Amino acid sequence: MADRLKGKVAIVTGAASGIGAATARIFAREGAKVVVTDVQDEKGKAVAKEVDGIFLHHDTSDEAQWTKVLAETRGKFGRLDVLMNNAGVFIPQTIEDSTLDVWNKVLGINLTGVMLGCKHAIAAMKANPGGPKGSIVNVSSITGFMGLASAAAYTASKGGVRFLTKSVAVHCARNYRTIRCNSLHPGAIDTPMNQAAFDASGDPEGTRKYFEGLQPIGRMATAEEMGECALFLASDESSYMTGAELLADGGWIAAAGPL
Ligand SMILES: NC(=O)c1ccc[n+]([C@@H]2O[C@H](COP(=O)([O-])OP(=O)(O)OC[C@H]3O[C@@H](n4cnc5c(N)ncnc54)[C@H](O)[C@@H]3O)[C@@H](O)[C@H]2O)c1
Repeated sequence: MADRLKGKVAIVTGAASGIGAATARIFAREGAKVVVTDVQDEKGKAVAKEVDGIFLHHDTSDEAQWTKVLAETRGKFGRLDVLMNNAGVFIPQTIEDSTLDVWNKVLGINLTGVMLGCKHAIAAMKANPGGPKGSIVNVSSITGFMGLASAAAYTASKGGVRFLTKSVAVHCARNYRTIRCNSLHPGAIDTPMNQAAFDASGDPEGTRKYFEGLQPIGRMATAEEMGECALFLASDESSYMTGAELLADGGWIAAAGPL
């Protein structure tokens, strides 16, 4: 299959690395025109070149930059069909260690950035030639379902994304019918984000092994496996899904314990 997003225009935020880069490649493989956005310019440009798309510098926590990204996307391609709100940061701090600066930074990117993306994408999707239509995929996390003791702000941000998605979905369904919004909840994925956490632990190999053992499936996922999940939510194959949670965690949450 190579036409599951044929004729569609997609923005993927945080697409210079990890899950976002893999998703940009998969969306392009399926026929979408892809707008790669990120704060990492060189890496983002390389991904855009690879997928024959365009790169836009974009800090998702800044509303003025969303206005610019949407204007440039519509100016270049004339429509917006898919937004993957993927950009995120992981800065571990327990609740006792939390500083307001880190809290505001994590919430600003991981939650406020997703809210701004939804707001601006809906405005563009409403104005699509042929009438309102589109799919928004918000990247939450397994931590949208359970608390990570070492990362209070991150857990709060991902729980926020899970429920923001439902509010957006209901609003869009009631008002526009064919604009959908769902959340994707990765478990542990082998990306630079996790590698940085392993490196910071002082025992990268041991921490990696521990992480792999947490999941009944016995390994972390690849970024590509998350991209394939995002593709399903982005495509018309999920046309009756809105406000839903797609959990892709190798059975982590399903397992009550080691048995
Ligand atoms: N890796 C995992 O195990 C895992 C698990 C659950 C959820 N997630 C989520 O998946 C998403 C992608 O993570 P990843 O693992 O691919 O990490 P990653 O670090 O490889 O990629 C994240 C990208 O977001 C970009 N980014 C950071 N701040 C930004 C900002 N303000 N504006 C725009 N871009 C910004 C980074 O430059 C980077 O390219 C994140 O939302 C993350 O929280 C990851």
